[in-house]
Amino acid sequence: MAADFSEQSYWHQRYQTETSFEWLISSEHFMSVINPYLDQHLPGDASSARILHLGGGTSDLQNHFRARGLVDVTNVDFEPLAADRGRDLERRAFGDVRMRYAVADVTQLPERIGDSSTFDLVVDKSTCDAVACGGDTQVRRMSHSVRRCLADGGVWLSLSFSGQRFDVDDVPFEVETIAQIPTPKLKETDPNIYYWVYRLRPVS
Ligand SMILES: C[S@@+](CC[C@H](N)C(=O)[O-])C[C@H]1O[C@@H](n2cnc3c(N)ncnc32)[C@H](O)[C@@H]1O
Repeated sequence: MAADFSEQSYWHQRYQTETSFEWLISSEHFMSVINPYLDQHLPGDASSARILHLGGGTSDLQNHFRARGLVDVTNVDFEPLAADRGRDLERRAFGDVRMRYAVADVTQLPERIGDSSTFDLVVDKSTCDAVACGGDTQVRRMSHSVRRCLADGGVWLSLSFSGQRFDVDDVPFEVETIAQIPTPKLKETDPNIYYWVYRLRPVS
């Protein structure tokens, strides 16, 4: 039976042994794509920007924010082992843990997450894809949940393998493709397949 990536039990099993893995592309590559948007969207003193990282898993994306001087990062995942793995990855890279790791479901985020109730930037790297395995309703729930915790002027940057990831009714965002990343080809004649980076800005 195919894995159901929208089920916490799948990730719990997987993170028993997985300590580090990057979905779709490396965090370094993702950062190189979103960097201009960080410059554009984060407040003047970017070091105080509140960042919410959804479904971090065993990725080291948060470390790239910290390395850039952005330490007010709250990482959430519904699998508690992901928080342990995230802390370990940060400690290994920097010698201490300064970012936050919380357990929460991105389709129903609580009113306060860590120390913040709103965020200037929400970012997910293929977490929307895992959520989408639960169907359009779950993507819609995720989008409303993210909308509620975005500060005025805040944006959501999202990486997906789908060019239709947010083609779902009642998503309270203006959805724009900001990058199409070609996937590696095994043969020259293979079709062009892309990963997609979206900028989602709340509709008023
Ligand atoms: C495809 S992995 C991506 C992991 C990481 N962002 C990366 O790029 O390598 C999806 C992650 O989202 C988490 N996840 C899936 N559905 C979730 C939900 N409803 N709420 C919170 N986390 C969820 C999983 O536990 C997993 O860590």
